[in-house]
Amino acid sequence: MTDDQTVPANYAAGLFDLSGRVAVVTGGGSGLGAAIAIGYAQLGVTVIVAEINMAGAEATRATIAEQGGKAEVASLDVTKRDQCFAVAEAVKRDHGHIDILVNSAGSAFRSPAEEFPEDKFNFILDLNLKGTYFCCQAFGGVMLGQNKGSIINIASIGSFKAYPWASAYLASKGGVLQVTRALALEWRDRGVRVNGIGPTLMESPLTRAAGATSSITADFIKARMPRPRLGLPRELIGTAVFLASDASELVTGHVVMCDDGYLNA
Ligand SMILES: NC(=O)c1ccc[n+]([C@@H]2O[C@H](COP(=O)([O-])OP(=O)(O)OC[C@H]3O[C@@H](n4cnc5c(N)ncnc54)[C@H](O)[C@@H]3O)[C@@H](O)[C@H]2O)c1
Repeated sequence: MTDDQTVPANYAAGLFDLSGRVAVVTGGGSGLGAAIAIGYAQLGVTVIVAEINMAGAEATRATIAEQGGKAEVASLDVTKRDQCFAVAEAVKRDHGHIDILVNSAGSAFRSPAEEFPEDKFNFILDLNLKGTYFCCQAFGGVMLGQNKGSIINIASIGSFKAYPWASAYLASKGGVLQVTRALALEWRDRGVRVNGIGPTLMESPLTRAAGATSSITADFIKARMPRPRLGLPRELIGTAVFLASDASELVTGHVVMCDDGYLNA
């Protein structure tokens, strides 16, 4: 226990400082992960774009390099636990520390529940839930060894609310919420914080592929939005910076909603 209740000079100025930190962003080759990766690099973070799609990863790396930032790509299928541990070991070896993990690799599949294909159900759960869990184990394990680190799992309004034709996705994102809470509890006293970001329906390649402009799922969500507008990937960067930084030292086990008021409606 400390009884130090002072606020040292310039304390607040350093709260959001991420310079010199190392971040691994899974799914950083597209959409939300790409925006967060680029945003971190703009603040002096060295970003490892960990992807199954190397063309996407390379595009994010090139954008970061053009903007004067530091980034590398790593080939990673997050559904393969041994690959997650191998990449974590490689990043630790090359950089000495891993400060931030963003789990953004994910996908969606639309189908009525009564005919949801088993292989698609397994695919979504393996990728969104197990992939997130394996990366938390592998990269979080390095963080536990350092006694410091911040993990940010991309959750969803679907972690809390139902919508049609997305039962596997909703199950996976409900699971991501509980994994976030479980690991936050187990790892708090070892310096590792685990939080999530809960975006509204966003403009991204994923939502375009899944029919965000018009579909049973998207129309249901859009009809319930306080203002009928999709989020932009860059609109998550501020929250991703907050959760990665010392500014959120007392925040763990929570999903910070970037939902434009959706859950409140
Ligand atoms: N787009 C939205 O409206 C929205 C809303 C809430 C939450 N999310 C979540 O945000 C995350 C990112 O979504 P997005 O819209 O940016 O999707 P996206 O399809 O644009 O990007 C996902 C990335 O994950 C990568 N990926 C897929 N499988 C992988 C694997 N096995 N290993 C490593 N990488 C893999 C893909 O190559 C792709 O680059 C997902 O978890 C998604 O569920 C998206």
